[in-house]
Amino acid sequence: MIRFLFLFMMLLAMAQTNHAQTVSKEAVTLKSVASFPLGAALNPKLLNNALYGRIAEREFSSVTAENHLKMHHIHPEQNRYDWSGGDALIAFAQRNGQRLHGHTLLWHQAVPKWVREFQGDSTAWEQLIKEHIQTVVGHYKGRIAAWDVVNEAFEEDGSLRKTIWLEHLGPDYIARCFRYAREADPDVKLFYNDYGQESSPGKLTAMLDMVADFKRRGIPIDGIGLQMHTNIRHPDRQIENTLRQTVNTGLLVHISELDIRINPDKKPDLVPTDALWQQQKQKFASIVRMYKTVVPKEQQHGITIWNIGDGDSWIPNFCKCQDFPLPFDKQYAKKPAYDGILEGLK
Ligand code: XIL
Repeated sequence: MIRFLFLFMMLLAMAQTNHAQTVSKEAVTLKSVASFPLGAALNPKLLNNALYGRIAEREFSSVTAENHLKMHHIHPEQNRYDWSGGDALIAFAQRNGQRLHGHTLLWHQAVPKWVREFQGDSTAWEQLIKEHIQTVVGHYKGRIAAWDVVNEAFEEDGSLRKTIWLEHLGPDYIARCFRYAREADPDVKLFYNDYGQESSPGKLTAMLDMVADFKRRGIPIDGIGLQMHTNIRHPDRQIENTLRQTVNTGLLVHISELDIRINPDKKPDLVPTDALWQQQKQKFASIVRMYKTVVPKEQQHGITIWNIGDGDSWIPNFCKCQDFPLPFDKQYAKKPAYDGILEGLK
């Protein structure tokens, strides 16, 4: 009888330990482990999905609007602004004590029809962007911590991208956009954001030269966004080198749109294997670790993941291929990539 009782008590104690382990494992979230802001790009429409909303709230301390602050969304007609998407995200972020990162005031791929058809001389174009920037920054003043003022203004070779903005505003338009944003909000952090600096040395140099030029001329700029849409094969040393050079500017550094493709060859029939999930996990871990070690604390604006589940990612649409670049799967279960981020953060 005593022996039986002893066995029973042992079993009870084991069950309790197990329970405690599950509970404490559950309590660990990315943001609870991160020593810098960890963000996700969100689509306000998906917040209706309880799982999506729960992960966005539990795991992340910063929010970027994936699309809803871009010009074609927020300024669909010359005399009409649509704040609904941005305001919904702000309300979500405020409820959860999260930071809101603004993306983006000027991007050549987010041009509304009325701008494409706009007729006017250079003064009228200048007025157009000034009004857009100052209305949007002004509307969110005090509620948005940072803005990607200009997005993707350089070609891979470092020349200025031939966009509608360059055509109508001339080569110094980027500096003027930063000035307009600063006039509208003296406290918001102003970022230049671009992709592929880790694979295009010409673009990286052009961006660093621009920062040096801004400093010389007293043009306000606070940070640089490295989008980091990358893949499992991209060499760490190129990423590290890009981080180091960006850190040398003294500005804030944001890995602003991180996702890691497992199908860089765009195989139409790719079936993910455990080996691929492990490689993706390692790449997430090493990028997060590099950020943590290479970027000094006072320059860490954070890392933002470009949405949450593989089903929400922009990549399949963009590459017209199968891919699974995010830390959660289509059903919002954690992938090995999630543990990779955790590992890198620790
Ligand atoms: C993408 C969004 O993820 C897509 O939903 C949208 O259709 C196109 O834009 N660089 C950027 C982001 O700066 O704004 C882009 O986001 C991805 C590439």
